[in-house]
Amino acid sequence: MLQLITHNYQTIPGWFDFDWIYQAAVAAAYPNAKLVEVGAFLGRSSSYLVTEAANADKDLEVNIVDLWWGSSEHHFKNYMPEFMRNMAHLRGHFNPIRLPSTVAAGALGNTDFVFLDAEHTRKALSADIRAWRNTYPAIIAGHDYKPNQFTGVCEAVHEAFGDNFSVRGSTWYAVLPQHKSYINIRKFRDAIA
Ligand SMILES: C[S@@+](CC[C@H](N)C(=O)[O-])C[C@H]1O[C@@H](n2cnc3c(N)ncnc32)[C@H](O)[C@@H]1O
Repeated sequence: MLQLITHNYQTIPGWFDFDWIYQAAVAAAYPNAKLVEVGAFLGRSSSYLVTEAANADKDLEVNIVDLWWGSSEHHFKNYMPEFMRNMAHLRGHFNPIRLPSTVAAGALGNTDFVFLDAEHTRKALSADIRAWRNTYPAIIAGHDYKPNQFTGVCEAVHEAFGDNFSVRGSTWYAVLPQHKSYINIRKFRDAIA
């Protein structure tokens, strides 16, 4: 019988209020779907996603992309050892990918679900959306759609999708039906309803 993994994300510092979309993506994923999180920091959101995916027991491929060198905001420190310690109990259930977001998009091939939470400028997010859209995800989403705080995020999302996206809390998401996808979009919509 599958031994469920206990969540530890609550003990990890970070910015995570989008558990609902990770739950929905995992619920809607067919076996072997490829899920991606871009922007992990110390693993708060990553730990949640990987635990949900592992507990679903559907052989989901979870890729976690970050540079783990922080940013000016995070004092240019190497955060990867701390991230790996926070994720130690989840080894084997995810692939840490230490590459710039747009390079990782080129390296990963087709994906099914992508969540963007890396750099929040208009220029950086536009580049991320362009690069990850080319991996044909059925759902692409991201954090910090906050008109008063992250205008660049809002501008980049509008520029990319026009009115064809939704916002819940501070998370934006766009559903992009694909010819072949390992995400059941109806199930995704039901799960977030
Ligand atoms: C806001 S934090 C992510 C927070 C995380 N989701 C959480 O739950 O706490 C943004 C992260 O994106 C990473 N990042 C920024 N620009 C990046 C890039 N171009 N490629 C990959 N990672 C990047 C940073 O290193 C940082 O760890």
